[in-house]
Amino acid sequence: MYLKGRYNYFQFINMQTKIINSAKVASQHIKKGNIVAFPTETVYGLGANAYDEKAVKKIFKAKGRPADNPLIVHVAYKRDINFLVKEITPSAKKIIKEFFPGPATVILRKNEIVPDVVTGGLDTIAIRMPASKIAREFIKACGVPIAAPSANLSGSPSPTSFVHALKDMKGKIPCILTGPDAKYGLESTVIDCTGKHPVILRPGSITLEHLKKLDKQTKYGRSTGKIKSPGQKYRHYSPKANVRLISDFGSKIANSKNKKAFIGLSKKLAMGYELVKICRTPEEYAMNLFSFFHKCDEMGIKTIYCEKISEKGVGAAIMNRLNKASIK
Ligand code: TXA
Ligand code: MG
Repeated sequence: MYLKGRYNYFQFINMQTKIINSAKVASQHIKKGNIVAFPTETVYGLGANAYDEKAVKKIFKAKGRPADNPLIVHVAYKRDINFLVKEITPSAKKIIKEFFPGPATVILRKNEIVPDVVTGGLDTIAIRMPASKIAREFIKACGVPIAAPSANLSGSPSPTSFVHALKDMKGKIPCILTGPDAKYGLESTVIDCTGKHPVILRPGSITLEHLKKLDKQTKYGRSTGKIKSPGQKYRHYSPKANVRLISDFGSKIANSKNKKAFIGLSKKLAMGYELVKICRTPEEYAMNLFSFFHKCDEMGIKTIYCEKISEKGVGAAIMNRLNKASIK
Protein backbone atom coordinates (compact mmCIF):
# COMPACT_ATOMS: atom_id res chain seq x y z
CA MET A 1 0.00 0.00 0.00
CA TYR A 2 2.75 2.39 1.06
CA LEU A 3 4.67 1.75 -2.12
CA LYS A 4 1.56 2.16 -4.23
CA GLY A 5 0.82 5.51 -2.58
CA ARG A 6 4.36 6.73 -3.16
CA TYR A 7 4.21 5.57 -6.73
CA ASN A 8 1.03 7.51 -7.36
CA TYR A 9 2.52 10.65 -5.84
CA PHE A 10 5.56 10.27 -8.07
CA GLN A 11 3.28 9.95 -11.09
CA PHE A 12 1.57 13.19 -10.14
CA ILE A 13 4.70 15.33 -10.00
CA ASN A 14 6.42 13.48 -12.81
CA MET A 15 3.66 12.74 -15.29
CA GLN A 16 4.27 11.02 -18.58
CA THR A 17 4.58 13.54 -21.40
CA LYS A 18 3.14 12.13 -24.63
CA ILE A 19 4.22 13.29 -28.07
CA ILE A 20 1.13 13.54 -30.25
CA ASN A 21 0.25 14.87 -33.68
CA SER A 22 -3.50 15.32 -33.34
CA ALA A 23 -4.68 18.87 -32.66
CA LYS A 24 -8.00 17.42 -31.55
CA VAL A 25 -6.44 15.16 -28.91
CA ALA A 26 -4.30 18.08 -27.67
CA SER A 27 -7.42 20.24 -27.40
CA GLN A 28 -9.07 17.63 -25.16
CA HIS A 29 -6.32 18.19 -22.58
CA ILE A 30 -6.99 21.94 -22.72
CA LYS A 31 -10.71 21.32 -22.20
CA LYS A 32 -9.86 19.31 -19.07
CA GLY A 33 -7.95 22.28 -17.64
CA ASN A 34 -4.47 21.03 -18.52
CA ILE A 35 -1.58 22.72 -20.32
CA VAL A 36 -0.13 21.60 -23.64
CA ALA A 37 2.95 22.55 -25.71
CA PHE A 38 2.17 23.28 -29.36
CA PRO A 39 4.08 24.44 -32.46
CA THR A 40 3.84 27.89 -34.01
CA GLU A 41 5.83 29.51 -36.79
CA THR A 42 7.85 31.57 -34.27
CA VAL A 43 8.61 29.18 -31.37
CA TYR A 44 6.72 26.43 -29.52
CA GLY A 45 4.11 27.72 -27.07
CA LEU A 46 2.87 26.34 -23.75
CA GLY A 47 -0.89 26.80 -23.88
CA ALA A 48 -3.87 26.93 -21.51
CA ASN A 49 -7.48 28.07 -21.82
CA ALA A 50 -7.08 31.84 -21.36
CA TYR A 51 -10.39 32.01 -19.43
CA ASP A 52 -9.37 29.27 -16.96
CA GLU A 53 -7.40 30.89 -14.14
CA LYS A 54 -6.36 27.58 -12.59
CA ALA A 55 -5.04 26.23 -15.90
CA VAL A 56 -3.12 29.46 -16.60
CA LYS A 57 -1.45 29.21 -13.18
CA LYS A 58 -0.09 25.80 -14.22
CA ILE A 59 1.87 27.54 -17.02
CA PHE A 60 3.66 29.82 -14.57
CA LYS A 61 4.45 26.82 -12.35
CA ALA A 62 5.76 24.61 -15.18
CA LYS A 63 8.02 27.38 -16.52
CA GLY A 64 9.09 28.84 -13.18
CA ARG A 65 7.88 32.17 -14.59
CA PRO A 66 7.45 35.27 -12.41
CA ALA A 67 3.73 36.05 -11.96
CA ASP A 68 4.14 39.65 -13.12
CA ASN A 69 5.30 38.58 -16.59
CA PRO A 70 2.13 38.53 -18.72
CA LEU A 71 1.24 35.95 -21.38
CA ILE A 72 0.24 36.33 -25.02
CA VAL A 73 -3.31 35.24 -25.85
CA HIS A 74 -3.57 33.35 -29.16
CA VAL A 75 -6.67 33.40 -31.33
CA ALA A 76 -7.71 31.37 -34.39
CA TYR A 77 -9.87 34.09 -35.98
CA LYS A 78 -9.51 37.87 -36.13
CA ARG A 79 -13.10 38.27 -34.93
CA ASP A 80 -12.17 36.63 -31.59
CA ILE A 81 -10.03 39.67 -30.71
CA ASN A 82 -13.20 41.69 -30.08
CA PHE A 83 -14.09 39.62 -27.00
CA LEU A 84 -10.70 40.20 -25.40
CA VAL A 85 -10.21 43.96 -25.76
CA LYS A 86 -11.99 47.23 -25.01
CA GLU A 87 -11.20 48.72 -28.40
CA ILE A 88 -9.17 47.83 -31.47
CA THR A 89 -7.30 51.09 -31.96
CA PRO A 90 -6.64 52.45 -35.48
CA SER A 91 -2.94 51.56 -35.19
CA ALA A 92 -3.81 47.98 -34.20
CA LYS A 93 -6.33 47.70 -37.04
CA LYS A 94 -3.66 48.42 -39.64
CA ILE A 95 -1.22 45.92 -38.12
CA ILE A 96 -3.86 43.20 -37.78
CA LYS A 97 -4.94 43.73 -41.38
CA GLU A 98 -1.40 43.51 -42.69
CA PHE A 99 0.36 41.05 -40.37
CA PHE A 100 -2.26 38.74 -38.80
CA PRO A 101 -1.99 35.78 -39.01
CA GLY A 102 1.80 35.92 -38.49
CA PRO A 103 4.70 36.62 -36.16
CA ALA A 104 3.27 39.84 -34.68
CA THR A 105 1.61 40.48 -31.29
CA VAL A 106 -0.45 43.58 -30.51
CA ILE A 107 -1.00 45.09 -27.05
CA LEU A 108 -4.43 46.60 -26.42
CA ARG A 109 -6.60 47.53 -23.40
CA LYS A 110 -8.10 44.33 -22.01
CA ASN A 111 -11.69 43.41 -21.27
CA GLU A 112 -12.78 42.30 -17.78
CA ILE A 113 -13.47 38.78 -19.10
CA VAL A 114 -9.70 38.11 -19.24
CA PRO A 115 -8.42 36.91 -15.83
CA ASP A 116 -5.71 39.10 -14.26
CA VAL A 117 -3.39 36.11 -13.96
CA VAL A 118 -3.04 36.12 -17.79
CA THR A 119 -1.92 39.74 -17.97
CA GLY A 120 0.15 39.85 -14.80
CA GLY A 121 -2.33 42.34 -13.34
CA LEU A 122 -1.91 44.81 -16.24
CA ASP A 123 -4.95 46.47 -17.81
CA THR A 124 -3.59 45.59 -21.25
CA ILE A 125 -3.47 42.29 -23.12
CA ALA A 126 -1.09 40.86 -25.74
CA ILE A 127 -2.82 39.17 -28.69
CA ARG A 128 -1.44 37.08 -31.52
CA MET A 129 -2.94 35.03 -34.33
CA PRO A 130 -0.39 32.42 -35.44
CA ALA A 131 -0.02 31.60 -39.12
CA SER A 132 1.04 28.01 -38.43
CA LYS A 133 -1.63 25.65 -39.76
CA ILE A 134 -1.34 23.18 -36.89
CA ALA A 135 -1.37 25.98 -34.28
CA ARG A 136 -4.59 27.36 -35.75
CA GLU A 137 -6.17 23.90 -35.96
CA PHE A 138 -5.31 23.40 -32.30
CA ILE A 139 -6.75 26.76 -31.17
CA LYS A 140 -9.90 26.18 -33.25
CA ALA A 141 -10.36 22.72 -31.71
CA CYS A 142 -9.97 24.21 -28.20
CA GLY A 143 -12.80 26.64 -28.95
CA VAL A 144 -11.30 29.25 -26.59
CA PRO A 145 -8.41 31.73 -26.81
CA ILE A 146 -5.13 30.13 -25.73
CA ALA A 147 -2.80 31.92 -23.32
CA ALA A 148 0.74 30.82 -24.12
CA PRO A 149 4.30 31.88 -23.43
CA SER A 150 7.18 30.10 -25.12
CA ALA A 151 7.42 26.46 -23.96
CA ASN A 152 10.80 26.73 -22.23
CA LEU A 153 11.88 27.08 -18.62
CA SER A 154 12.01 30.74 -17.67
CA GLY A 155 15.35 32.23 -18.75
CA SER A 156 16.27 29.42 -21.18
CA PRO A 157 16.28 29.66 -24.98
CA SER A 158 12.86 29.24 -26.59
CA PRO A 159 12.05 25.87 -28.22
CA THR A 160 12.02 25.78 -32.01
CA SER A 161 11.30 22.04 -32.23
CA PHE A 162 9.30 19.59 -30.13
CA VAL A 163 12.57 18.04 -28.91
CA HIS A 164 13.51 21.34 -27.22
CA ALA A 165 10.05 21.64 -25.66
CA LEU A 166 10.35 18.06 -24.39
CA LYS A 167 13.75 18.81 -22.83
CA ASP A 168 12.27 21.57 -20.62
CA MET A 169 8.72 20.28 -20.08
CA LYS A 170 9.15 16.50 -19.76
CA GLY A 171 7.29 15.20 -16.72
CA LYS A 172 5.48 18.53 -16.22
CA ILE A 173 2.81 18.48 -18.92
CA PRO A 174 0.60 15.69 -20.31
CA CYS A 175 1.49 16.18 -23.98
CA ILE A 176 3.34 18.01 -26.71
CA LEU A 177 1.60 18.56 -30.02
CA THR A 178 4.22 18.20 -32.75
CA GLY A 179 4.49 20.06 -36.03
CA PRO A 180 7.12 21.48 -38.33
CA ASP A 181 10.16 23.18 -36.76
CA ALA A 182 9.64 26.91 -36.26
CA LYS A 183 9.94 28.82 -39.53
CA TYR A 184 11.13 32.09 -37.96
CA GLY A 185 12.88 30.74 -34.85
CA LEU A 186 12.50 33.97 -32.82
CA GLU A 187 9.48 35.04 -30.79
CA SER A 188 6.93 37.42 -32.30
CA THR A 189 7.36 41.18 -32.53
CA VAL A 190 5.44 42.68 -29.57
CA ILE A 191 3.84 46.00 -30.52
CA ASP A 192 2.10 48.35 -28.09
CA CYS A 193 -0.94 49.67 -29.96
CA THR A 194 -2.63 51.45 -27.04
CA GLY A 195 -1.32 54.86 -28.16
CA LYS A 196 -1.61 56.88 -31.34
CA HIS A 197 1.43 55.29 -32.94
CA PRO A 198 2.78 51.74 -32.60
CA VAL A 199 5.69 51.16 -30.21
CA ILE A 200 7.82 48.04 -30.56
CA LEU A 201 8.40 46.47 -27.13
CA ARG A 202 10.18 43.33 -28.39
CA PRO A 203 11.72 43.20 -31.89
CA GLY A 204 10.99 40.18 -34.08
CA SER A 205 10.59 39.03 -37.66
CA ILE A 206 8.06 41.78 -38.38
CA THR A 207 10.61 44.56 -38.34
CA LEU A 208 10.64 48.29 -37.65
CA GLU A 209 11.04 48.77 -41.41
CA HIS A 210 7.90 46.67 -42.10
CA LEU A 211 5.88 48.57 -39.50
CA LYS A 212 7.07 51.98 -40.70
CA LYS A 213 5.43 51.25 -44.04
CA LEU A 214 2.09 51.37 -42.18
CA ASP A 215 2.99 54.23 -39.82
CA LYS A 216 6.17 56.29 -40.24
CA GLN A 217 6.04 57.26 -36.56
CA THR A 218 6.54 53.67 -35.33
CA LYS A 219 9.36 53.53 -32.77
CA TYR A 220 11.13 51.16 -30.41
CA GLY A 221 10.01 51.52 -26.79
CA ARG A 222 12.58 53.19 -24.61
CA SER A 223 14.54 50.75 -22.50
CA THR A 224 14.80 53.34 -19.73
CA GLY A 225 11.99 54.72 -17.63
CA LYS A 226 8.85 52.75 -16.87
CA ILE A 227 9.12 49.22 -18.22
CA LYS A 228 6.16 48.67 -20.52
CA SER A 229 6.83 45.04 -21.36
CA PRO A 230 7.54 43.26 -18.08
CA GLY A 231 9.27 40.31 -19.79
CA GLN A 232 12.03 42.57 -21.03
CA LYS A 233 13.43 43.09 -17.52
CA TYR A 234 14.15 39.39 -16.94
CA ARG A 235 17.17 37.34 -17.93
CA HIS A 236 16.38 35.58 -21.16
CA TYR A 237 17.32 33.16 -23.90
CA SER A 238 20.41 31.88 -22.07
CA PRO A 239 21.92 28.51 -22.87
CA LYS A 240 24.11 26.79 -20.25
CA ALA A 241 27.17 27.86 -22.25
CA ASN A 242 28.53 31.41 -22.00
CA VAL A 243 27.48 33.58 -24.92
CA ARG A 244 30.10 36.02 -26.27
CA LEU A 245 29.41 38.52 -29.02
CA ILE A 246 32.20 39.05 -31.55
CA SER A 247 32.66 41.21 -34.60
CA ASP A 248 36.20 40.37 -35.61
CA PHE A 249 38.64 37.48 -35.40
CA GLY A 250 40.80 39.21 -32.79
CA SER A 251 38.03 39.35 -30.21
CA LYS A 252 37.99 35.56 -29.92
CA ILE A 253 39.77 34.07 -26.91
CA ALA A 254 42.73 32.36 -28.53
CA ASN A 255 43.75 28.82 -27.59
CA SER A 256 40.93 28.30 -25.11
CA LYS A 257 40.96 24.63 -24.12
CA ASN A 258 37.23 24.57 -23.49
CA LYS A 259 34.87 23.43 -26.22
CA LYS A 260 33.65 26.42 -28.20
CA ALA A 261 31.20 27.08 -31.00
CA PHE A 262 30.50 29.81 -33.53
CA ILE A 263 27.33 31.05 -35.20
CA GLY A 264 27.16 33.95 -37.61
CA LEU A 265 27.29 35.14 -41.19
CA SER A 266 31.03 35.31 -41.89
CA LYS A 267 33.01 32.25 -42.89
CA LYS A 268 36.25 34.05 -42.10
CA LEU A 269 35.38 34.29 -38.38
CA ALA A 270 34.57 30.60 -38.11
CA MET A 271 37.96 28.94 -37.69
CA GLY A 272 39.02 26.90 -34.70
CA TYR A 273 35.67 25.88 -33.24
CA GLU A 274 34.28 22.45 -32.36
CA LEU A 275 30.90 23.40 -33.81
CA VAL A 276 30.12 26.00 -36.48
CA LYS A 277 26.95 27.34 -38.07
CA ILE A 278 27.33 29.75 -40.96
CA CYS A 279 24.09 31.40 -41.98
CA ARG A 280 23.60 32.89 -45.44
CA THR A 281 21.18 35.63 -44.37
CA PRO A 282 20.03 37.36 -41.16
CA GLU A 283 16.72 35.46 -41.52
CA GLU A 284 18.61 32.17 -41.51
CA TYR A 285 20.61 33.39 -38.49
CA ALA A 286 17.31 34.10 -36.67
CA MET A 287 15.87 30.72 -37.61
CA ASN A 288 18.93 28.82 -36.39
CA LEU A 289 19.97 30.78 -33.31
CA PHE A 290 17.97 29.03 -30.56
CA SER A 291 18.32 25.55 -32.07
CA PHE A 292 22.09 26.17 -32.17
CA PHE A 293 22.04 27.15 -28.48
CA HIS A 294 20.18 23.91 -27.69
CA LYS A 295 22.65 21.86 -29.73
CA CYS A 296 25.65 23.50 -28.02
CA ASP A 297 24.25 22.59 -24.60
CA GLU A 298 23.75 18.99 -25.72
CA MET A 299 27.38 18.85 -26.86
CA GLY A 300 28.75 20.35 -23.66
CA ILE A 301 30.08 23.48 -25.42
CA LYS A 302 31.37 25.98 -22.85
CA THR A 303 31.38 29.19 -24.89
CA ILE A 304 29.30 30.16 -27.90
CA TYR A 305 30.75 32.98 -29.99
CA CYS A 306 28.00 34.80 -31.86
CA GLU A 307 28.74 37.28 -34.61
CA LYS A 308 27.33 40.75 -34.02
CA ILE A 309 25.33 41.94 -37.01
CA SER A 310 23.78 45.19 -38.18
CA GLU A 311 20.54 46.06 -36.39
CA LYS A 312 18.72 46.55 -39.70
CA GLY A 313 15.64 44.41 -40.41
CA VAL A 314 15.55 41.20 -38.40
CA GLY A 315 19.11 42.03 -37.25
CA ALA A 316 17.51 44.14 -34.49
CA ALA A 317 15.71 41.07 -33.10
CA ILE A 318 18.83 38.91 -33.33
CA MET A 319 20.94 41.50 -31.47
CA ASN A 320 18.17 41.91 -28.85
CA ARG A 321 18.24 38.15 -28.12
CA LEU A 322 22.06 37.97 -28.25
CA ASN A 323 22.50 40.89 -25.87
CA LYS A 324 20.16 39.28 -23.35
CA ALA A 325 21.66 35.81 -23.78
CA SER A 326 25.14 37.19 -23.12
CA ILE A 327 24.22 38.57 -19.68
CA LYS A 328 25.07 36.00 -17.02
O1 TXA B 1 6.18 34.16 -30.76
C1 TXA B 1 5.76 34.36 -29.61
O2 TXA B 1 5.45 35.49 -29.21
C2 TXA B 1 5.65 33.12 -28.69
C3 TXA B 1 4.61 32.18 -29.30
C4 TXA B 1 4.33 30.99 -28.42
O3 TXA B 1 3.45 32.88 -29.59
N1 TXA B 1 5.28 33.54 -27.37
C5 TXA B 1 6.13 34.17 -26.55
O4 TXA B 1 5.61 34.42 -25.29
O5 TXA B 1 7.25 34.49 -26.84
P1 TXA B 1 6.48 34.91 -24.06
O6 TXA B 1 5.56 34.84 -22.91
O7 TXA B 1 7.69 34.09 -23.99
O8 TXA B 1 6.77 36.40 -24.36
C6 TXA B 1 5.72 37.35 -24.31
C7 TXA B 1 6.27 38.75 -24.17
C8 TXA B 1 6.90 38.97 -22.81
O9 TXA B 1 8.06 39.76 -22.98
C9 TXA B 1 5.81 39.75 -22.07
O10 TXA B 1 6.33 40.57 -21.05
C10 TXA B 1 5.18 40.55 -23.20
O11 TXA B 1 5.19 39.67 -24.30
N2 TXA B 1 3.79 40.92 -22.87
C11 TXA B 1 2.74 40.11 -22.71
N3 TXA B 1 1.64 40.81 -22.37
C12 TXA B 1 2.01 42.11 -22.31
C13 TXA B 1 1.34 43.32 -22.01
N4 TXA B 1 0.06 43.36 -21.69
N5 TXA B 1 2.04 44.48 -22.07
C14 TXA B 1 3.35 44.47 -22.41
N6 TXA B 1 4.05 43.35 -22.71
C15 TXA B 1 3.39 42.19 -22.65
MG1 MG C 1 9.55 33.42 -23.65
